[in-house]
Amino acid sequence: MKSFIRIMAFTLAAAMLLPLAACDSGSGGGKVETVKIGISLYRKDDTFVASLCTCLERVAKQKETESGKKIVVNMVDGQSSQALQNDQVDSFISQNYDVICVNMVDRTAAAVIVDKAKAANIPVIFFNREPVEEDIRLWERAYYVGADAAQSGRLQGEIIAEAFQKNRAEIDKNGDGKIQYVMLEGEQGHQDALLRTEYSIKAVTSAGIQVEKLANDTANWQRAQGSAKMTQWLAKFGDRIEVVFCNNDDMALGAIDTVKDSKTKVHPAIVGVDATESGLNAIKDGSMFGTVFNDAQGQAKAIFDLSYALATGESPSTKLNIQNEHYIRIPYRAVTVSNADEILNILKE
Ligand code: BGC
Ligand code: CA
Repeated sequence: MKSFIRIMAFTLAAAMLLPLAACDSGSGGGKVETVKIGISLYRKDDTFVASLCTCLERVAKQKETESGKKIVVNMVDGQSSQALQNDQVDSFISQNYDVICVNMVDRTAAAVIVDKAKAANIPVIFFNREPVEEDIRLWERAYYVGADAAQSGRLQGEIIAEAFQKNRAEIDKNGDGKIQYVMLEGEQGHQDALLRTEYSIKAVTSAGIQVEKLANDTANWQRAQGSAKMTQWLAKFGDRIEVVFCNNDDMALGAIDTVKDSKTKVHPAIVGVDATESGLNAIKDGSMFGTVFNDAQGQAKAIFDLSYALATGESPSTKLNIQNEHYIRIPYRAVTVSNADEILNILKE
């Protein structure tokens, strides 16, 4: 009988401990053994998003070795469907993930996700596709990690403005004092497409340089679409095109594909944003004029560090530079042939 009571007491005590162990992750106080981060991507095959994911995985592995904790990073592909992405978030919630990171398919639909996360009390970090501020402010545990889109546009425009001022003939091929340009835009409604398009041109005109827009259209961030648009424009405008502003490197590389295949002797100056490895190599071989470094590594580290802090109950603002209670923005950098190697080395770190 005595031993039966002892067994019962033991079972009871164990049963009482169980919920504690289950709460361990996320309870703070240095007891966390497992950190579970769920990440939903708008689409996995986007070049920039894919490189951000590679960086994220690397940072998580490093931290796992360093901290001795088990770190689970589960990345799922939203396949450009907001409905699917909402289901993925529900699934992370039902599996008690510590943090949910969302690269919104439709950045105007973030309120739904914030509401779900808030109801479950699981912090949510948006990245790369920026929700409107109103949605981020719905809950104090909602964050955005990204960059200042207007800055990337400005830096891109400045590359062209500076080249024009230094050696006008390099840009103004027909010598009329104006820049004839075409604009390859990213996905419609994306903050980076809107602001890069606007601020690149503002940077040129505010340097006192006149511009003439020949054409603009979206190529949805994609190389093949960029190439197809450029084929139409080259047929229409030929060597009147002096500058091709591209909201990202993949579309710039598409434009370069077309220019290389065509017989035009006058090559326009083509500028992108991202500084992908292929973009940087195109700068080095002279086919791309410049780009703007979109720091995937810096953003991945910020997403991870913020996730880790939130999951382990640390105050995020002790180690991270959080602006307006909700935002982390990693600076962009202009890239031309003079610093392409330096940026290539950063990518290889
Ligand atoms: C990048 C693009 C990418 C897009 C995806 C932008 O910040 O510059 O290359 O396709 O994000 O959301
Ligand atoms: Ca001109």
